[in-house]
This record gives sequence, structure tokens and C-alpha cells, in this order.
Amino acid sequence: MMQHVKILRKEIETPTVFSLYFHWDVKVEPGQFVMVWVPGYSEVPMSLSSTGKEKCLTVKMYGDTTKALNSLKEGDIIQLRGPYGKPFTRVKGKTLLVGGGSGMASMRPLINEESTGIVAARGQDELLFADDFSKGNAICVTEDGSRGIKGIITAGFENLDLKSFSMIYICGPERMLYAVFKMLHGKTENVEFSLERSMKCGIGLCDSCSVDGFQICKEGPTFSISEVEKMGEFGKTRLDRSGKRVFF
Ligand code: FES
Repeated sequence: MMQHVKILRKEIETPTVFSLYFHWDVKVEPGQFVMVWVPGYSEVPMSLSSTGKEKCLTVKMYGDTTKALNSLKEGDIIQLRGPYGKPFTRVKGKTLLVGGGSGMASMRPLINEESTGIVAARGQDELLFADDFSKGNAICVTEDGSRGIKGIITAGFENLDLKSFSMIYICGPERMLYAVFKMLHGKTENVEFSLERSMKCGIGLCDSCSVDGFQICKEGPTFSISEVEKMGEFGKTRLDRSGKRVFF
């Protein structure tokens, strides 16, 4: 059922990413998603970047709905349904959170004093939530070298002992996920990816989100590395909103 929430405040995170904070008295686990609707625009799936009493949507501007969300201000209403999908598996001990672009948004609720982050972006202006990690626990990677290591996200893993982490969580553009998958494959099993696909119903009815027989909205959006390994389309193709297969 669609629910209305009132925006408490908006924060600018990067030149292309902003956050909308609101109260919503619904239990949401990190990694689950909600369907967000602005009247007149397509409904879109989004993970929450804060899942406590005060909740938050962190939005990257890339389409009409996200631009419409950007035009909202304090006191305006957004419409949500959910939460849906399988959350990240919660573990005790050290965790590694790997986020490219706006990917760190869905993992932000998992950040604690035992978390290390690999936060990657094109340049320092686009690094998201790197400063939410405890001092010294964020490894920044930028393509232009403007902060931290110069390179792509896989460069952030150098010097890390993968086995020291109870779980490695990864979210970001699929080409990036694929590069990380290839690097981690065969090295450690405790890895979960958050996948993104075009979603229409969000509840397992329309099949717009399926990847090799896995429905992202119901069986995901979080998947273990052994599940991702079974997806031949992973990192290669996806369906666009009209159902046409496109390459990453
Ligand atoms: S979004 Fe409809 S089946 Fe997944």
C-alpha cells in the first residue's frame, strides 16, 4: 500500500547526489528497497541510506523521477511502498563496505566502528559518505587521483587481508560489481552484492527485474557471491524499461 511521508530536510551530498530525510514508522532492514513515486513520473526502486527512526533516501540524479525528487523541499510529500526484498546478512566483527558512485548509500546503515570502507568515484567531489567511517577506516579511490588512491575500485583492495572480514558488502554500477566479483572469486565466500535492475511491480509479478531466472525484487536485491556466480547475464546485459536487452 502506498504511504505518504513528509520531507523533513534535504541535504546536498555531492554535485549529483542529494538526501531526503523523513519519518516513516516502518521497519526497514539495510539492503531492502522501497518503491518511490512522485505523481506524474515513473515509480523507481531505491534503497534507504538511513533505516532508524529517521529514514533517508539518497538519490543520484539520472532520470525524470530523480530530477522531480530533487525539486522537492522541506514539507513536501513523497509516496512510498515497501519495504521489499532481501536485506544484507548482518554479521558480528569486522566488515568491509565497498561502494562505487552512489553505491555507498544502501550500505551506509551498516557503517559502525568495525567497518572499513572502500569508497570510489570519478573524483573527490563525488565520494559518498567516506567521512561517515571512523577516522582512518575509509579507503578512497578516485579515477582522477584527486583524493586517495588513483585508479578504479579494485585498487582499494590492495594491502587488505580479505579473510579478516566477516563479510564484504558491495554496491555500485554493475560494471564495477563485475570487476570486484572477478577479483574476489575463489578468494573468499563471505561476499554480498546488491544488484540493480529495472523494476515495475517490486513484488515478483512482472518479471521485469529477472536475471537468469533470479528475480531481483524478491530473491534480492542482495545476493551472495555464489548466487551471483550462477548469473550468466551478470555484468553483461540487462533489460531496459521497455523490455529491450541492452549491454552494460
Ligand atoms: S519488479 Fe516485477 S517481478 Fe521484480
